[in-house]
Amino acid sequence: MRVLTGIQPSGVLHLGNYFGSIRQMLQYQGDSELFIFIANYHALTSLKDGEALRENSIDAAISFLSLGIDPSKATFWLQSDVKEVLELYWILSSYTPMGLLERAHSYKDKVAKGIVANHALFSYPVLMAADILLYDAEVVPVGKDQVQHVEITRDIAIKFNNNHKNALKIPTFKIDEKVAAVPGIDGAKMSKSYGNTINIFTTQKELKKQTGKIVTDSTPLEEPKSYENCNVYKLCELFMDENELIELQERYKSGKEGYGHFKASLKDKIWEYFAFARDKREYYLAHKDEVRDILLDGANKARAIASIKMEQIREMVGIL
Ligand code: ADP
Ligand code: TRP
Repeated sequence: MRVLTGIQPSGVLHLGNYFGSIRQMLQYQGDSELFIFIANYHALTSLKDGEALRENSIDAAISFLSLGIDPSKATFWLQSDVKEVLELYWILSSYTPMGLLERAHSYKDKVAKGIVANHALFSYPVLMAADILLYDAEVVPVGKDQVQHVEITRDIAIKFNNNHKNALKIPTFKIDEKVAAVPGIDGAKMSKSYGNTINIFTTQKELKKQTGKIVTDSTPLEEPKSYENCNVYKLCELFMDENELIELQERYKSGKEGYGHFKASLKDKIWEYFAFARDKREYYLAHKDEVRDILLDGANKARAIASIKMEQIREMVGIL
């Protein structure tokens, strides 16, 4: 099964990103053929500072390699290294009804927020369709906000296939229903835009500060506490096994410790959990040339497929 997904290089990663998305992607790495790329052309729709886009793209690659993308198992590349995608984007545009794009929630939401739309923001789903269809991807794991974009991809592919029988594989999306929203330090869904994140790659001091700010009730230290709805406990559930959780529950009930103690245990767990990834990240930060080479190797693998597909498509649509 060929699984494909793109990642916007949008800055600092938090626990919600890891447990809500990255961990699932990594699971495909063993069992399926995983295609995964840094969507830097897509990022250009909102980021106009060239230096920042370059930095963010490499930084995202470093983070994903550190968290477990294995270039010997997955095909991992930078979107802009395989130019065929732009050619397919244009060809697919000629098969995309305006109404399909005008109905896109993500576009409408951005316009409603007052963002001045450019054409790339409007045609964003067509480039995403090209990303997916160029590689005959079967499954596209995405977050809820991206489902409609995969539906648009399907519609475009069906339109194209009406003219060119069975040319494009129709993909399906996959959302992991098991993953609940990871709560942020205020108990709402953890998100960059709410400023309530605990970040994966941070200093121990900063991690202490972020976990220290988790909102709890004000039960005094010497009273038993309930763990059921506690934000600290909910985050601990991501890092502790069953026995550790039972032990933690006892500590809540005992009335001998305060929330500060539980926060400290959580901090230690997070720090330990990402120790390996942190070391790898340090290594890649000091060896950025190696990262660029990994991405270029991945692009070569991706291009081998993309160029054959494009030859077939050019032939079908009549581009000499
Ligand atoms: P943010 O809300 O911080 O801007 P993104 O929209 O960039 O995060 O999310 C990237 C991926 O991480 C998406 O697949 C999304 O579903 C997942 N994700 C983000 N925050 C959470 C969360 N709090 N719980 C579960 N998954 C999350
Ligand atoms: N639009 C996706 C996001 O913002 C990123 C993306 C670009 C993507 N191309 C893709 C995801 C193709 C899946 C498949 O998260």
